Amino acid sequence: MMTNLAAGRAADRIMDMAADTAAEAQEMLAITDLKTHFFTQKGVVPAVDGVSIRIPEKQVMGIVGESGCGKSVTAMSILQLVSRPGRIVGGSIMLDGEELVGKSVKEMRNIRGNKVSVIFQEPMTSLNPVYTVGRQVSEAITVHRQVGKQEARQQVVEMFKAVGIPEAERRFNSFPHQLSGGLRQRVMIAMAMVCQPKLMIADEPTTALDVTIEAQILHLMRRLEEKSNTSIMLITHNMGVVAEICDFVYVMYAGKVMEQAPVFELFDHTKHPYTKGLLNSIPKPTEEKQRLYNIKGMVPNLLRLPKGCRFSPRCEYAMPECREREPELYDCGKNHKVRCFLYQKDQGGGADE
Ligand SMILES: Nc1ncnc2c1ncn2[C@@H]1O[C@H](COP(=O)(O)OP(=O)(O)O)[C@@H](O)[C@H]1O
Ligand SMILES: [Mg+2]
Repeated sequence: MMTNLAAGRAADRIMDMAADTAAEAQEMLAITDLKTHFFTQKGVVPAVDGVSIRIPEKQVMGIVGESGCGKSVTAMSILQLVSRPGRIVGGSIMLDGEELVGKSVKEMRNIRGNKVSVIFQEPMTSLNPVYTVGRQVSEAITVHRQVGKQEARQQVVEMFKAVGIPEAERRFNSFPHQLSGGLRQRVMIAMAMVCQPKLMIADEPTTALDVTIEAQILHLMRRLEEKSNTSIMLITHNMGVVAEICDFVYVMYAGKVMEQAPVFELFDHTKHPYTKGLLNSIPKPTEEKQRLYNIKGMVPNLLRLPKGCRFSPRCEYAMPECREREPELYDCGKNHKVRCFLYQKDQGGGADE
């Protein structure tokens, strides 16, 4: 099933993959052993528990996992927007060679919207209802650049056209509530892209949209990424979205990366039982009644993590050692790593199951 999904993209990606390999050394974002914990009255919640993520230049990198796995907290950590009682307690976040951990609010204000921008699931919460969308996107330019009002307006209209907003000039003067959900999300993408950021973080950007609009928005993001030098971090709980536009994927579970691989490698040689469960949860368009296979059980309460592998209570392959020790992230070759004892023997070998 997944091979079909992926195959649609195969042809146009082969060229890109060759280019990616050549550009491997250029890292736009390098997160190393990030730990972001929440200090609650009930105890310490390790929402992000030693996560390392790398995004080369000009790549769409996906983070996928069920709700509550630490995806948004990872994004907020990059933006230095984790609010109390949360705090980054360890690790490093290098954006284009610059350490973000420990930056002041003022320093981050200059970096946000300029070098890194973000779009969220529901644009209504990020757009101000009392200003026109044109004015809001213009301000995203003028706050960072010495640009006149007319020139900013021109740039915004151009950007609105680039993100496929029909009648861009007229829409400049629309208020957020006058636009459909899909158009509002296009406005958000325009706002996120207008300063040509190094990195755009998109946290469930299409979750609130219907599937047709979702596909349009994803293709738009893909096109923008190809035309610009922006890398994208796409956060989603939906493996179908990953298949649609990502180059590389990190699978997160309960605050840790469980598996990481280039997108085709992940779909064709899925290793972690959790990833297999996520893949089986994609609704198949060919089936009349969409059957949703859900992984048994729930994401554990992070205050009471199980002993050993944190997925073991839900894992149908769990062995005695899985309930005793936590597996490392084993390197299986082909840029594929998996945190599962089943693949301990494959370490460095690149063997398939
Ligand atoms: N303000 C908070 N206080 C305590 N715990 C929090 C807070 N925000 C997030 N968390 C913890 O972090 C976990 C990960 O949250 P989040 O990153 O939002 O998940 P998702 O993968 O759905 O984006 C949550 O399950 C919760 O345990
Ligand atoms: Mg989230």
